[in-house]
Amino acid sequence: MLERDPESLGSLGIAISEASEDAATHDDTNYSLGSVLNHVLMHQTVVGEECRLQMEMAGDYPDIVIGCIGGGSNYAGLAFPFMRDRLAGKKQVEFLAAEPSACPTVTKGKLTYDFGDALGSTPLFMMHTLGHDFTPPGIHAGGLRYHAMAPLISALVDTGNMSAVAYGQTEIFEAALTFARAEAIIPAPESSHAIKATIDQAIKARDAGEEKVILFNLSGHGHFDMSAYDQYLSGKLMDYAYPEEKIRESMAKIPQGRW
Ligand SMILES: Cc1ncc(COP(=O)(O)O)c(C=O)c1O
Repeated sequence: MLERDPESLGSLGIAISEASEDAATHDDTNYSLGSVLNHVLMHQTVVGEECRLQMEMAGDYPDIVIGCIGGGSNYAGLAFPFMRDRLAGKKQVEFLAAEPSACPTVTKGKLTYDFGDALGSTPLFMMHTLGHDFTPPGIHAGGLRYHAMAPLISALVDTGNMSAVAYGQTEIFEAALTFARAEAIIPAPESSHAIKATIDQAIKARDAGEEKVILFNLSGHGHFDMSAYDQYLSGKLMDYAYPEEKIRESMAKIPQGRW
């Protein structure tokens, strides 16, 4: 990878290639995937099942369910137990996924078969992708720097059951600070995408004079992201332009077929 690009910042796709290589070349090593594959999403639904019970205890039900998406697992974990009510026609709940505009997999990607890792060693998956060898800009939300999306999330977007929105990193840090000041919780930059979407939806409802119950996933804390907060607070954090050219190059390398 460094021979190809000595300045490479790495990516989750590269990390998956490295991990698979390590597992494939050592008898005592196996690789357990952390996101993207549908079974991982299913395992995470314990989060949404718990939220359903907590909502019941509160005597309420969400109008909108929001989460950030890297590979899709934390959001699917929260959303899917509510999605079953929508798909069964029992509730009119809306679903909104938030991603970085520097790695806009669902909002700008293509829905097609592609590899899950940078080297192309996994099977092909039908999913939104920016091209398997796309290396996203070095945004602080490292967990959202993945070129593709879980096939089940992609299918739900494709069928109009879920929508997605993309944000730049300065606006998500602004939302993170609003949240930290109100709740005394420092959120992870990844989770702050969901916070930004939640604030936007709350303002939209307030402006329309509507009352909405909004459920979002605070997927992690930001205790290891202090240098990013420091950069934001000292005015050094910048937004990256949409990496159009790099995405076009990577998309040209997506496998072609008659699907
Ligand atoms: C705090 C946090 N939230 C969200 C994510 C995104 O991953 P996924 O979409 O699989 O939940 C990550 C990934 O590393 C993360 O660290």
